Parts: sequence; structure tokens; C-alpha cells
Amino acid sequence: MSRLFIFFSCCVFLSCTNNNQEDYFLNFNCEWDNTDFSNFLIQKDCELENITYQNQIAALIENKCIVCHSQSGNNHGVNLSSYNSMLNYDLCYQIDNNLMPPVGMIPLTECEKLQFKNWVDNGLAE
Ligand code: HEC
Repeated sequence: MSRLFIFFSCCVFLSCTNNNQEDYFLNFNCEWDNTDFSNFLIQKDCELENITYQNQIAALIENKCIVCHSQSGNNHGVNLSSYNSMLNYDLCYQIDNNLMPPVGMIPLTECEKLQFKNWVDNGLAE
């Protein structure tokens, strides 16, 4: 009986959060199990405060991802060209496991990874 109650509570909770920005967080697996940030050597010019999509993340995507994930064309079904579209994919998982950018492309710097983490931690500011 109590299991049934928990099940229905979860359903109610999930339907309440529908179409919220919180929905986007459900797409992100940001446990960072595979990245040890404590070893990162961060340069002085690495901005880590007040990270927003406009100020840092859009440029990061532009530099390291957009060549393969634009709005149209040969984007492998992944559109990272805007704030709303990029939140549909689990980017934390890709970054945490060093899956993207793929081998052979310029990898993310430690600064960029930390910026991305801080951006997520602080609520994906637009
Ligand atoms: C050289 C081209 C290239 C670059 C640069 C690139 N990707 Fe990809 N990406 C791919 C290809 C090809 C796939 C589909 C095949 C695969 O999953 O390996 C893919 C798949 C993905 C997926 C879907 C994975 C899945 O399993 O559904 C995500 C999310 C993604 N990329 C994010 C990124 C991010 C974020 C960056 C930049 C940090 C990036 N990619 C840079 C080529 C690229």
C-alpha cells in the first residue's frame, strides 16, 4: 500500500514540474563522477563567477561544438545552437565522460569544464 502511495506521489510531483525550467535539469546528469575538479589548475584569466549562457557558455559551444551541432545541416540530430535547444541534451554526461568533443577535436579546457559545472550549479543562467 505505501509503495503505491509513493508511486502516485512521484507521478504527481513529476506532472507538477512539467514544462518548468526544472524540466531541463532532468535532462542533465551532473554528478561529475568521472571528473576530479580538485586537480584542475585554473589560470588567472579563467572567469568562474556569474557564468551565464550569453557571456561564456554560448562562446564555448560555438568554439568547441557548433561545427558538428548547428541548427541545421549535418548536426547528427543534436542542435546546440540556442539556449533552449541545448538544454534538451545531457551535456554534463558528455563532458564528464570526455565523450564530446570527439577524439581528434580540440578538447574542452579545464577552465571550460569548470565554467560549465558552475553554470549548471548556479541554475543555468540565460
Ligand atoms: C567533430 C564533430 C563533433 C564535435 C566537435 C562535437 N560533437 Fe557531439 N556528436 C558528434 C557525433 C558524430 C555524434 C553522434 C554520434 C555519437 O554519439 O558519437 C555526437 C553526439 C552528441 C550528443 C548526443 C549523444 C547521445 O548519445 O545521444 C551530444 C549531447 C553531443 N554530441 C554534444 C556535444 C558537445 C556538448 C560538444 C562540444 C563540447 C560536441 N558534441 C562536439 C560529433 C561532434
